[in-house]
Amino acid sequence: MLPELLLEDQWIVHFINHGWLTMKFAFPEGFHESVCASLSKISHNPGSRITEEVPELLEVVRHPQVQGVVRSLLGPGYQLHPRRHFYNNQPGSQSQGWHVDAATPDHMLRGLVLFYYPQDVDLTMGPTILVPGTQFRDAPMDRMTSYANIRGQKNFAGPAGTMVVMHPDLWHARSLNRSTKSRYMIKFMFTRPDEPVAACWRHNPDSAGDLFMSKVREFVGPVRSFCSDYLAEWEWRRRLWNWMRGAPAQAPNLMDFLV
Ligand SMILES: [Fe+2]
Repeated sequence: MLPELLLEDQWIVHFINHGWLTMKFAFPEGFHESVCASLSKISHNPGSRITEEVPELLEVVRHPQVQGVVRSLLGPGYQLHPRRHFYNNQPGSQSQGWHVDAATPDHMLRGLVLFYYPQDVDLTMGPTILVPGTQFRDAPMDRMTSYANIRGQKNFAGPAGTMVVMHPDLWHARSLNRSTKSRYMIKFMFTRPDEPVAACWRHNPDSAGDLFMSKVREFVGPVRSFCSDYLAEWEWRRRLWNWMRGAPAQAPNLMDFLV
């Protein structure tokens, strides 16, 4: 693993705040077109056997830069989960209810979801929708499915080959496909079997603390009142940041949050 393939502090902090990252790396000429051609011939749902039917898909998770991102977030002992899924969002489909892929009891990053889009996706094609920062919000799944548009939701769109890595607890859904084209997506999952003992990315301890504080403050927003949601948002992020760096657990210092 070349060090330059690992993420820097700013991207780890971005992930902790937003719960997802978008990435696009170079693949051999024609790779994504070839994947799309293979997927277009599949008329059933092969479930986790999608990589047996389209073996070249494994090149996505073998890509050195993809491995660098996953290793940065989950550590060098990360494992590719055997479960995966092929989503064929067809024209005229119904939107999916808001949901999370996991409900990690302590919201620490013990898993990671990767979405790979082998074709250009525009906003008419039923893109994935996500709500940044909701990975720490416990919402009952049966109620979430009835939620409609949520303030701050983001529609994912991007050129062929774009990927998203997401905290498994982030609120997301598939939206209605208004186009005449099917929209393909392959989901992979990774797990972290161990507890972090040190930062596994390109971590600069001299500057990372200030970066973390400023970016969390920017994301969570200004204090308008002594608001419990505000304090909770801070505390979840600080807890995950410390956990990923292998730092000992610390009692919350509420005065830090109120600066
Ligand atoms: Fe999902």
